[in-house]
Amino acid sequence: MCGIVGITANESVSSNIISALKKLEYRGYDSAGIAINTESQIHQKKVKGKLDNLILSLQKDGFDGKVGIGHTRWATHGEPSERNAHPHSSRKVSLVHNGIIENASELKSRIELKNYNFESDTDSEVITALITHYLNEGHDHMESVKQTISLLEGSYALAIIFSDLKDKIIGARNGSPLVAGTDGNSNSLGSDSIALSAIANKVCYLEDGDIVVLSRENVEIYNSSGDKANREFVDIGIMDTEVSKGSYNHFMEKEIHEHPKAVGETFRQFIDHDQGIISVDDIGLNFNDISKVHLIACGTAYYSCLVAKYYFEQYARLPVECDMASEFRYRDPVLDNKALYIFVSQSGETADTKAALDFCKDAKVRTLSIVNVMNSSIARESDYCLYTKAGAEIGVASTKAFTAQLSVLLSMALHCGTKNNNVTIEQNRQICKEIMQAPQILEKTIKRSYELKETAKAIIDSKGVMYLGRGTAFPLALEGALKFKEISYIHAEGYPAGEMKHGPLALIEKDLPVVCIVPPGPLFPKTVSNIQEVIARGGRILMITDDDSLKSSSENIWKIFRLPKTPKSIEAIVYSVPIHMLAYYTAVQLGNDVDQPRNLAKSVTVE
Ligand code: M6R
Repeated sequence: MCGIVGITANESVSSNIISALKKLEYRGYDSAGIAINTESQIHQKKVKGKLDNLILSLQKDGFDGKVGIGHTRWATHGEPSERNAHPHSSRKVSLVHNGIIENASELKSRIELKNYNFESDTDSEVITALITHYLNEGHDHMESVKQTISLLEGSYALAIIFSDLKDKIIGARNGSPLVAGTDGNSNSLGSDSIALSAIANKVCYLEDGDIVVLSRENVEIYNSSGDKANREFVDIGIMDTEVSKGSYNHFMEKEIHEHPKAVGETFRQFIDHDQGIISVDDIGLNFNDISKVHLIACGTAYYSCLVAKYYFEQYARLPVECDMASEFRYRDPVLDNKALYIFVSQSGETADTKAALDFCKDAKVRTLSIVNVMNSSIARESDYCLYTKAGAEIGVASTKAFTAQLSVLLSMALHCGTKNNNVTIEQNRQICKEIMQAPQILEKTIKRSYELKETAKAIIDSKGVMYLGRGTAFPLALEGALKFKEISYIHAEGYPAGEMKHGPLALIEKDLPVVCIVPPGPLFPKTVSNIQEVIARGGRILMITDDDSLKSSSENIWKIFRLPKTPKSIEAIVYSVPIHMLAYYTAVQLGNDVDQPRNLAKSVTVE
């Protein structure tokens, strides 16, 4: 899952390629490269590490021209190194690739490539080798690309330049996102519209099987049958341009501070002010006709599904299944025509989630997506779509998108419950009032979360951290542990508090930090008993609660982080703030790269 870009213009393109790559670094940042077709030949530069290394290297020894391509990499085949960085070039052709070529080794051993001198360990270089081979055989550029991609198995988005084509880029897409952009002065290709926001005012989301030919004047798109395709160019969205850290130190810090806005804006779409209720009416889906909900996603988005299981069961009394997308499609699941299949994704491009959606589409069951990025593949391909209004999320660790996902899922569950008479209008009205308080309570919680800085300082030397909860606090424990390990690189595990004595209690030893998420209610005393079992074995408890009955000294609790009083309906949303903040402060204390943690990428567009 890499970021690719290509620009052809009437002026020099290298600085615009670098700016576009900067916006694509969330897709991978272990190496970067650029190739420019100058008047005489293709010049390229590749470096290991982040894009800044490429910028420094170009400052020392740069080149420029009016057509070029660029790449930021997340390694799949071959270690992160200069050798494996893209572009991959021959004397005639240079290309950048996002995706995985599954039959690369088989292709490399084809007879026609036996004399090709492969310089990298990547799967991508075989594409360069094949195109070069077909050019050598006398095929024209388009035909060489067509012949090559007809042999590829797997996924790809490609941007290709040729040494003897001074203003053209050929692009192709299958399974990996690719967007064409235009602004009258230049034409461009990129992995998403954010990348193109500075160089295009209109974009076109290409479809699988498309091949696109960009010259300075034109963008021509051909579909998988080779016919000219008339695809729509749409205005680039406002969200696509908002990618600055403002006064914050990290995007993650900024994005945690945006929880109130993300949640407020997301709920706002569903508030029926006339009746004072939550309603999700106008997407054309008959909510009365749903007999079961099946939620599918990856990572943090999957944890929002686990919370939503409680919402749909409680409010709509519907049976709910949750699946990690990577498991779902390989399990030969039994699909149900009366069920609604819901796909949750911040990026809308996650390969496993998209593949699970494709699987359901092929089976002709009803699909709905909950997505943050407008016009992303999952948003476009599902039957129905509801957007989270979180705004651009750049930090690899997902924060505000999570609470926005919970906001859509809660609204849907309430709406279904109201439609199937399990929630009265009066109850809906009451919960709607509570929901309207959410941004304010989130603001207060964020202000208090600064206390967690000290807690973070005290746990940075721990060899592990446990997160415990019951009810919706259990998926929050999973989310807390994921966020913590993702950016602190310290092992963390989330567990249902009641399950501890069935095994994980063995992990508790003197001073092991245990984060307990304990909202008030019937499960409170039960979790407090589990906490005592941990304390008895030497664990240090950080309790997160808005219950004010408990005194830490009397219960031997190490620290209590107290939230403002929170209505039950929005508990999971509000309790997300301290768990995100704790992970953030810990990573900062450790001096880690908070926004771009090692080995990860924001958008996981490979399986
Ligand atoms: O874009 P998506 O919501 O589909 O991404 C899913 C996961 O890759 C993502 O939530 C990941 O787990 C985050 N880095 C967690 O913070």
